[in-house]
Amino acid sequence: MPVRQQREPAPVHPDIERVLLTGDRIQARLREMAALIDRDYADREVLLVGVLKGAFLLMADLARYVTVPMRFDFMAVSSYGSATQTSGVVRILKDLEQDIGQRHVLLVEDIVDTGLTLNYLLRSLRARRPASLDVLSLLTKPEQVRVPIEVRYVGFEVPGVFVVGYGLDYAERYRNLPYIGTLRRSVYETP
Ligand code: PRP
Repeated sequence: MPVRQQREPAPVHPDIERVLLTGDRIQARLREMAALIDRDYADREVLLVGVLKGAFLLMADLARYVTVPMRFDFMAVSSYGSATQTSGVVRILKDLEQDIGQRHVLLVEDIVDTGLTLNYLLRSLRARRPASLDVLSLLTKPEQVRVPIEVRYVGFEVPGVFVVGYGLDYAERYRNLPYIGTLRRSVYETP
């Protein structure tokens, strides 16, 4: 079918109160971060490790902008404790499928909130003796951080508000939104 014009951006979901980062802004930042990755891994092959589920969109988009040779793997983790607060004790639901000894690992996260999940993951991965281990996170919440974490590539610093979209969920919904925004209170507060 002939393409006559570009598709209009999807209308904002009615449950979203405010869009913090538009899809275009996210993609532009991913291109910038991909250029940094191309520069930093110019003579090396990078192993992108996505942390599921939140990083699935980010991995797919970022990977298309990076040009250095790369491999992929994924981990899935869940934190014990209440649904809204990370406890810092992390259970690995799906581990890597390969040995990372001698590999240049770039861990890809959608968000670093308290930093507890990342802290646990880094300890686990470091023990496997990769050649290098760095972190990319689309979002960080500097106000929330409880453990010092070094994130080499930060997409955006966001305030300590609950955000959804672009991989981030509330009760497993909204992950597919191409932008990041805050939820209307009515969605999570029962009258
Ligand atoms: C999110 C995110 C990080 C973690 C960050 O995952 O992907 O892994 O929380 O929080 P922290 O810095 O306070 O530890 P979540 O547990 O929501 O799982 P999901 O990716 O499957 O949504």
